Amino acid sequence: MKKECLNIVESKCRACKSCALSKTRHNVVFADGNPESASIVFIGEAPGEMEDLEGKPFVGRAGELLNEFLAEAGISREDDLYIINTVKCRPPENRIPTDAEKTACEKFLNAQIDIMNPKAIVFCGATALKSFWPDQKVQISKIRGNWFNVTINGKEYKAMAIFHPSYLLRNHSMQDGSPRRLMQQDLIEIRNTILSDRIPAQEFAMV
Ligand code: URA
Repeated sequence: MKKECLNIVESKCRACKSCALSKTRHNVVFADGNPESASIVFIGEAPGEMEDLEGKPFVGRAGELLNEFLAEAGISREDDLYIINTVKCRPPENRIPTDAEKTACEKFLNAQIDIMNPKAIVFCGATALKSFWPDQKVQISKIRGNWFNVTINGKEYKAMAIFHPSYLLRNHSMQDGSPRRLMQQDLIEIRNTILSDRIPAQEFAMV
């Protein structure tokens, strides 16, 4: 049922020419994951080069690293997450999408969230977070890992912000308090809270 509704939004999105990114894209990057089983909507920034070429979010280097972190935390990318971006077409040179581009894509993003009606939303990186956070000076490093409520289209959702995997590609340390360690902790918290029907993280680590 969700799939049919999303298919309608997707076909409109594929035909979209509301902003200049439509002229340079190879593919519209609409979403990845199983909308019928996913209970978490995972929002990134915008497609990069590989995503633009393959038409799927998070398939480049950042996506590969994300996959490793998800698997380690016991979160199934295929079944637990519905992965989308704030902007569906690649900004040239991977620059941050402009406000105008974000506004042009907002209707698709909001429709995806509305149809999914997830148990939680995970904002991956500052661009995704700032699309919904009133104070644009918000720092991901300050609020990551904490649950908060976000209202979208009049509906309240449980939400958490996490680091973007591109940031982790530049930060290799696994020491306590390092970005990679915090990412591990945040994903385990998400799994234990939202996917609480699973075996607890400590036991999962021993399997
Ligand atoms: N970074 C993002 O934020 N989204 C993608 O799909 C790929 C890289």
